[in-house]
Amino acid sequence: MTGGASGVPSPVTRPRRLRTTQALRSLVAETRVVPEHLVLPMFVREGASSPIPIAAMPGVVQHTRDSLRKAAQEAAEVGLGGVMLFGIPEHKDDVGSGAIDPAGILNVAIADVVAEVGDALTVMSDLCLDEFTDHGHCGVLTPDGRVDNDRTLAAYAEMALAQADAGIDMVGPSGMMDGQVAAIRGALDGGGHTDVAILAYSAKYASAFFGPFREAVDSSLEGDRRTYQQDPGNAREGVREALLDVAEGADIVMVKPALGYLDVVRRVREAVDVPVAAYNVSGEYSMLEAAAAHGWIERERAVLEVLTSIRRAGADVILTYWAAEAAGLLAR
Ligand code: PBG
Repeated sequence: MTGGASGVPSPVTRPRRLRTTQALRSLVAETRVVPEHLVLPMFVREGASSPIPIAAMPGVVQHTRDSLRKAAQEAAEVGLGGVMLFGIPEHKDDVGSGAIDPAGILNVAIADVVAEVGDALTVMSDLCLDEFTDHGHCGVLTPDGRVDNDRTLAAYAEMALAQADAGIDMVGPSGMMDGQVAAIRGALDGGGHTDVAILAYSAKYASAFFGPFREAVDSSLEGDRRTYQQDPGNAREGVREALLDVAEGADIVMVKPALGYLDVVRRVREAVDVPVAAYNVSGEYSMLEAAAAHGWIERERAVLEVLTSIRRAGADVILTYWAAEAAGLLAR
């Protein structure tokens, strides 16, 4: 330090110099969010005649088949990288048959969206049984009520083939069964679908932040998913899961939720050489929306800050319910 005004030493190093104007701040920005890296999760409800608002997720709806097509077209127009589809069937059963039925809501919706957007978007779908089972678990159950890992793998293999037949670009196994990526890769390749990619939900935590999603998909789950989803305290285990999924053939690995797990995003980013995605989940969305609705937070700035933070942590791809809106904000 050298002598300055009023005898206070003046700093030799002045990081503020690079923050003087917007042009300068942009010039040296380390992290950017662009629409191409964002994926919009969407819900489609069998038998719906008009879009149904999801109370716990203000601004998000359960689509009809028609409104889903339209929303997918809009997602393509604003330049998003992809959409992730979730189906809500009219009827559920104990094995989740609706997931495998070619006429099941998710499979017909995949075909609709692919027909609508072609290659303009990467069309992705949730590959999990929980929306289709009457007990709400991500797999089939043993007679004594536990989730049966290996019988569930067989169901996932069939579900993957049904989605591939419907034209899916990328499947998103989210059930946290051991060996799910290998089972799905094997089924896809065996069926000649070598080009269908796998976005693996690798480090998925048993999180309270999935709360609003339960309403979004009319979940019938009682209890929790702690025998298959990870303990929130475990970061090293998240890396282990991601490495296993890469070894089994995952094209992209994902960490979920995002905000409470940015350290896991960073660690996984450093551990693998495939793209890393992060899912900015329903509870993260609703929390910010609720605060903004009260006037407690500046909504648009907060949304962009959240997305920037997830990118800064190392995510290449972000799944977020704000994807389409963020594309508009980023274009300003
Ligand atoms: C399982 C699935 C869930 C979410 C995505 N896929 C729910 C769960 O595992 O309990 C949550 C997404 C969100 O909260 O936004 N099919």
